Amino acid sequence: MDLKQQILEIKENFARAIENIKDSDDLEQVKIEYLGRKSRFNQILKGLKDLGVEEKKEIGRLANLAKQDFQARLDELKSSITASGRTDSKFDYTLPGKRSRLGRTHPIVTTMREISDIFFGMGFGTEIGPEIETDYYNFQALNMPRDHPARDMQDTFYISGDLVLRTHTTPVQVRTLERSKPPARFIAPGRCYRNEAISVRSHAAFHQIDGFFVDRDVSFADLKGVLVAFARSFFGSDVKLKFRPSFFPFTEPSAEVDISCFLCNGKGCALCKRSGWLEILGCGMIDPVVFDYVGYDPEAFTGYAFGIGIERICLLKYGIDDIRLFFENDVRFLEQF
Ligand code: DAH
Repeated sequence: MDLKQQILEIKENFARAIENIKDSDDLEQVKIEYLGRKSRFNQILKGLKDLGVEEKKEIGRLANLAKQDFQARLDELKSSITASGRTDSKFDYTLPGKRSRLGRTHPIVTTMREISDIFFGMGFGTEIGPEIETDYYNFQALNMPRDHPARDMQDTFYISGDLVLRTHTTPVQVRTLERSKPPARFIAPGRCYRNEAISVRSHAAFHQIDGFFVDRDVSFADLKGVLVAFARSFFGSDVKLKFRPSFFPFTEPSAEVDISCFLCNGKGCALCKRSGWLEILGCGMIDPVVFDYVGYDPEAFTGYAFGIGIERICLLKYGIDDIRLFFENDVRFLEQF
C-alpha cells in the first residue's frame, strides 16, 4: 500500500476510534495508538527521510496536517470531558443528584399580588408609573404647590430641581386620569422612596398600592364598601374597620383606616400597642383641585382614592419585627415564606 493510502486509512480509523471515547482513559488509549512513539503514524514520519525529495514533501505535508488534526480533535474532546466532569471512568452516574436550592417569591411581592388580586376581583385595572417623577405629578397636581407645608409630610429625595424619586404611588392617579375618561377604576402598585433614617420601623425605599375610582355619583359609602370588602378578604371576615378623620392635600374629606387587631381580636396586645387597632391605609374623596389639573369637571364627577403601605401590612400579617429584613435579601429570612 502506498504511503498516501496508509495515511488515509489511519485517518479513517482515527475518526472511528474517537467516536467511542467515553472518558479520559479511552482518550489516553487513542492518543497512544495514533500519536504515540510506536504508532503506525510515527513509523511513517520516521520513514520520511528515506524518500525522494518530491515524495518527502508531499507525504510530509499530508502526515503533518493529519497529526495536527488528530491533536486538535483530541484536545477538544479532552476539554469537553473535563467540563462535563467525566474525568474518571469510575464515576457513578446512578448516584442521586444534589438538589439545588429554589428561589422564592419575596413576601412583599406575594403581599402585593394578594392585594392586587382582591381588587382585580372588584373590577380594578392596573396602572404603573415612573419611579423618577416630576415635581408636578408627585406634588403640584396633587394639590401641593411649591412651599406648601404638606410637602414636609414626605421627606423627598430630589434628583434635580424638577425631578424627584416619587414619595408615593399617588402621582399615578394624576397620570392615569389625565389620559383616560371616566369611569376610571385602577390600582397603582409600585416602589416609593423617602429620605428617612433607616430603622426597624422605616426604610428609604418601600412599596405602596394606590387605588382610585372616578365616575358620576361616586360616594364615600362606595369607598367604605370597597375597603371593607378588601379588609375582610385579606385579613379575615371577622375584621372590623375604623375610619378616622385625617388630612391629605389630594383628598377631601380624608380618613385613615384602622383594622381591629387580628392577633388579639381588639383586646390589646404588643402588636397593636395595647390599642386593639392597627392602621393600614389612608383614603378619601379626590379633591376637586386634582380634577382641575386632569381636566375633569368637578361638578360632574366624583371619585375616591386610597393608598396602602405594603411593608406595614406585610409586617403585620407575618409578625415580622424589622422592616430592614425586606431589603437585605438574606436567604435565611426569605426561605421562611
Ligand atoms: N399618598 C399617601 C401617602 O403616601 C397615601 C394616600 C392617602 C393615598 C390617601 C391616597 C389617598 O390615594 O387617597 O401617605
